Amino acid sequence: MKIAVASDHAGIDLKLELLKVLDARKIDYTDFGTHDHASTDYPTWGELVGNKVASGEFEKGLLVCGTGVGISLAANKVRGIRAVVCSETYTATLSRNHNDSNILALGARVVGAGLGSAILEAWLDAEFEGERHLRRVDMIRAIEEKNFKDV
Ligand code: RB5
Repeated sequence: MKIAVASDHAGIDLKLELLKVLDARKIDYTDFGTHDHASTDYPTWGELVGNKVASGEFEKGLLVCGTGVGISLAANKVRGIRAVVCSETYTATLSRNHNDSNILALGARVVGAGLGSAILEAWLDAEFEGERHLRRVDMIRAIEEKNFKDV
């Protein structure tokens, strides 16, 4: 599995902690940035990782900003992306089991390194259960087909 990773300036410190989880699990990833604390715009990173996942180049994505909200909103504007903001492990697990989430977003101003790492572990451990949940995810795809305009 390859994971595309990015954060804005507010998320960089938590992101670096989360990379230790990926290292420990020997998961292949690319950290696209940001690489310092200079102020940067979260939509840039959400769109970038969204495109990396939607294209199939990366199987999943990991995003961090101050709250996880802005960067996930941006990623979710890319067709095929189901990015979820999680502040606890239950939602992270269920977002994989039921929603086939393909990007996890975390808020560095919301969760610390310990909880953030546990959320990431839970998300990585969980699988999509398919069946009735596949029908519902297909309904989300149908909404995209109706509402997203090709550029
Ligand atoms: C940056 O100050 C902050 O707005 C951003 O990291 C994020 O929390 C936005 O949703």
